[in-house]
Amino acid sequence: DWTMAAYRDEKIAQIREQVGDAKVICGLSGGVDSSVAAVLIHEAIGDQLTCVFVDTGLLRKDEAEQVTTLFREHYNIPLVHVDASKEFLGELAGVSDPETKRKIIGRVFIEIFDREAHKVEGAEFLAQGTLYPDVIESVSASGGPSAVIKSHHNVGGLPDFMKLKLVEPLRELFKDEVRALGRELGLSDAFVGRHPFPGPGLAIRIPGEITPEAVETLQQADAIYLEEIRKAGLYDSIWQAFAVLLPVRTVGVMGDARTYEKVLALRAVTSTDGMTADFFEFPWDVLGRCATRIVNEVRGVNRVVYDVTSKPPGTIEWE
Ligand code: XMP
Repeated sequence: DWTMAAYRDEKIAQIREQVGDAKVICGLSGGVDSSVAAVLIHEAIGDQLTCVFVDTGLLRKDEAEQVTTLFREHYNIPLVHVDASKEFLGELAGVSDPETKRKIIGRVFIEIFDREAHKVEGAEFLAQGTLYPDVIESVSASGGPSAVIKSHHNVGGLPDFMKLKLVEPLRELFKDEVRALGRELGLSDAFVGRHPFPGPGLAIRIPGEITPEAVETLQQADAIYLEEIRKAGLYDSIWQAFAVLLPVRTVGVMGDARTYEKVLALRAVTSTDGMTADFFEFPWDVLGRCATRIVNEVRGVNRVVYDVTSKPPGTIEWE
């Protein structure tokens, strides 16, 4: 009879058989799928695996650090952490159009990943956390090279790493099965249960121009929002929750002083696959606490609004 432990062992045997004693590169996005794939492959072939984590600087607060700590200290997996935030922010400076943001991030990601992949001498395989829904559709909520590559494979010839043979041990699995496999591999519930996060990250949660200050403001506000959601025990009832920093200023009052600062929109939806979604019905007190804390603790925000649009006609993200 079928168990996740048996499935894990079967996959490990398959990976060993496929890879032999060759070297494998895995692009780590910080998300659940690429992390589970990397841990599984590491169980199978140990230090033949090198993970490359291209840090766009557009992840949630502290997430880059959590990923590197988890891989290096807990799993002892060789990990190249490329802090590329300056490069990404530089290329994004002055850009407001959502699709242009995505294209820039995809291109820069591929350039950096290719550069790093060349440093892993003699690599023959590229590992990806492709899931079954990614196989049957091209729309993916997962980040990392696989998601990026899809929309960019026809731009100016193939980067060298894309000529590598693929190792995709999650190809038969749905998201909930990947989470179960992750737990089987010793990843925590909190880690594998994390909400999906888009490849372009916070860049598409800052409508208009992206500045380092805007990214930091958004990271702080988003962290408070998620902290309150977890405290209220609501995290697992929500498909995705995040904040959006609007390029709109409104008037407020703090003490005796008039303020003129930005608006932050909060978004939370329930869904089963991200294709359709309903806005999440928060208890008012939770939303109220989020608003109070964000306005008090985050400089540059003086008003918080909640998005009650479902999908369709809205999308989950604002861009
Ligand atoms: P929308 O906003 O289209 O989002 O309702 C549906 C799901 O896809 C995610 N999303 C993306 N994921 N790159 C990604 O890897 C992207 O450019 C992108 N845009 C949206 C979104 O977070 C949601 O899970």
